[in-house]
Amino acid sequence: MKASAIIVAAGSGVRLGHPAPKAFVPLGGAPMLRYSLAAIAQVEAIGEAIITLPSGMEPAARAEIRAAGLAMPVKLTPGGAERQDSVRIALELASAHAEVVVVHDAARPFATPASFAAAIAVAARAGAAIAAIPLADTLKRVSEPNLIVATVPRTGLWLAQTPQAFRRDLLLEAHRRALADGIAATDDADLVQRLGAAVEVVPGSPLNFKITTADDLAIAAAIVASRAHRPATPGANG
Ligand code: C5P
Repeated sequence: MKASAIIVAAGSGVRLGHPAPKAFVPLGGAPMLRYSLAAIAQVEAIGEAIITLPSGMEPAARAEIRAAGLAMPVKLTPGGAERQDSVRIALELASAHAEVVVVHDAARPFATPASFAAAIAVAARAGAAIAAIPLADTLKRVSEPNLIVATVPRTGLWLAQTPQAFRRDLLLEAHRRALADGIAATDDADLVQRLGAAVEVVPGSPLNFKITTADDLAIAAAIVASRAHRPATPGANG
């Protein structure tokens, strides 16, 4: 069967300083969630979507599924306490027939359909693949409050993004073991790496940044505005 897409959208987005949960904060006239849904709607290799949501947001999410033109089967579920819990909850709902699962943060509205397709294709072949970009800036280690104590060589350092795709059985094992062992990681690839499995990178994009702060949201709004001449479908960005 085609891949299952997990869109994690249950975060509150406290650091954004907006009253709406982050995935529902307006961006260029559409809630942020719609961009990710519109992107996966264009990925031939995806056959179902599972979306984690803050409580009470199911009706709003259903409206976004329609607005994004997402025609595949969709499961909605409340998220967990942390992102990792949300992914695990969604993963347990993924079709047992899906060989590959692709996980994506709703907080990254500019992931392209091509990046989903690439991660899924490599995961189907190699087991696991994540979108990532090589680090461009010089990296400093700073001790509190503001003293540089080291320059970290950036050779070989990459920034991990989502989408992140995995063979479903591999990601399930990684999450179940992390739960049993009390391990918390900041991305799914880390949990899979802890099993000793190989994880490849596929090209991400600087535009595929995660919206965390009000400044990030302002940058994202400027990007959307600069694309105003393009076709109206959110997510039709490459
Ligand atoms: O908080 P952060 O921006 O790192 O969250 C990354 C993604 O995980 C967001 O899309 C957010 O909605 C989602 N999330 C979730 N459940 C949580 C926390 C975050 O689905 N408990």
